[in-house]
Amino acid sequence: MTNNINYAIGKNGGESPIVWSPNACHNPHLIIGGSSGAGKTFTIRQIINAFVTQGVTFTVIDKHGDINDLDHINDYNFGYGLDRGINPLSILPYKDYGGPEANALAFVGLLNELSGLHRLGPEQQNMLHNALINLYRANGIKQEDVNTWTQETYPDLTDLQRFLMHKYKKLLVGGKDDSKEMDYLYDLYKKKKALEKLERAAGKGDDVKDKILATISTLLQKYEDYLKMGILNDKDFLIYTNPRGLLAVKNRIQNINNSGVFVKNEISLKNSRVIIKNLEDEQKKIVTFYILKRLLDVFLKARYSEHVRHYLVIDEASFFLDIPKISNLITRIVQEGRKFGLGIILATQNPLSFNSDILLNTATKMIFSVEPVIHRLVSRAFGVDPSLLKSVMPRKHCMYSTKAVNNGAYRLINRL
Ligand SMILES: Nc1ncnc2c1ncn2[C@@H]1O[C@H](COP(=O)(O)OP(=O)(O)O)[C@@H](O)[C@H]1O
Ligand SMILES: [Mg+2]
Repeated sequence: MTNNINYAIGKNGGESPIVWSPNACHNPHLIIGGSSGAGKTFTIRQIINAFVTQGVTFTVIDKHGDINDLDHINDYNFGYGLDRGINPLSILPYKDYGGPEANALAFVGLLNELSGLHRLGPEQQNMLHNALINLYRANGIKQEDVNTWTQETYPDLTDLQRFLMHKYKKLLVGGKDDSKEMDYLYDLYKKKKALEKLERAAGKGDDVKDKILATISTLLQKYEDYLKMGILNDKDFLIYTNPRGLLAVKNRIQNINNSGVFVKNEISLKNSRVIIKNLEDEQKKIVTFYILKRLLDVFLKARYSEHVRHYLVIDEASFFLDIPKISNLITRIVQEGRKFGLGIILATQNPLSFNSDILLNTATKMIFSVEPVIHRLVSRAFGVDPSLLKSVMPRKHCMYSTKAVNNGAYRLINRL
């Protein structure tokens, strides 16, 4: 591996080109800002092709599917039919990463952040969390025993979907082909519903006090009968409290899973371009979250490195930053990645979407032409002279700043 990797950006008057050398900077991270058509993706392509031949590896998240023509990089067009992808339910077997519990929390939390429309209520989040823990358990993965966290294959979203369906049926199907246990559960649900109805009536002022007490006493009797069946270890009754809510949780997982990419058969992230253009927005964000998480988790356990060994590239990064869990991972990579040789390259049409932690921890910035309406704000956020911004032409120029040179003062670079 070469320590001194270089990318020639263009010229600034003189004969010799201005060169970006990430390993000579405070950190290897790069922000590329500029409006549509300014030359961001073109630059990303050049940087990857330059560094990959100098021994650096890459994971590229390609939102538009236009970072093509990359040398030595495997393309994975995420979507149905690829039969490969990334598994949100896989776990790294390190105690400090928290195992099944931490993974379940992260998954439920991410779903919660993703969509206001299909937001799961607290009861549903609880059911999903419990289902995840039970699914892990059913696969021999136990929170209390870190040795069980290692598996050939972890359950995936199809397993989760089936598991939820199974629980749903178990709650709903009364008797007939099923065991006696079902009859009791079904009866319990009917009585519980009746009680709820009575309580609502009581809330409206109806005199149903006696009926409520009678129902409670039958409910208690039924529950006692149920427990006497010797199925004390069947806690489903207490966990999956609401069949309709459970069905909604199952449908939510099914909806995410219909992309076919949250599967056991995972792609290698080394020298990979992950094309997410054919996925739904929500699925794009889930894929990106788990790629970020996986890279950060793996690199935090890697050996210390003076030089950047791997780059994560995210084009159209602003799209992902409205999800706090993703923005948090990006922030952690810019803060902690350097020590372990993990760098990040972020391109965006809206350079104003980065939080100050990301801006402060990214040593190098390239600002291409940006819309005049945001000149003033970009100038303030990035510390670049607004009058210089006016002279930046799409594709022809960019403003370049790296902390290592001239204390980060911007220079106008001629790209051609
Ligand atoms: N330095 C350059 N030299 C030649 N063509 C360029 C250069 N920069 C960009 N282009 C071309 O301009 C078009 C828009 O560039 P692109 O990188 O896709 O913009 P962005 O990603 O910022 O929207 C593309 O066709 C690209 O090939
Ligand atoms: Mg682009």
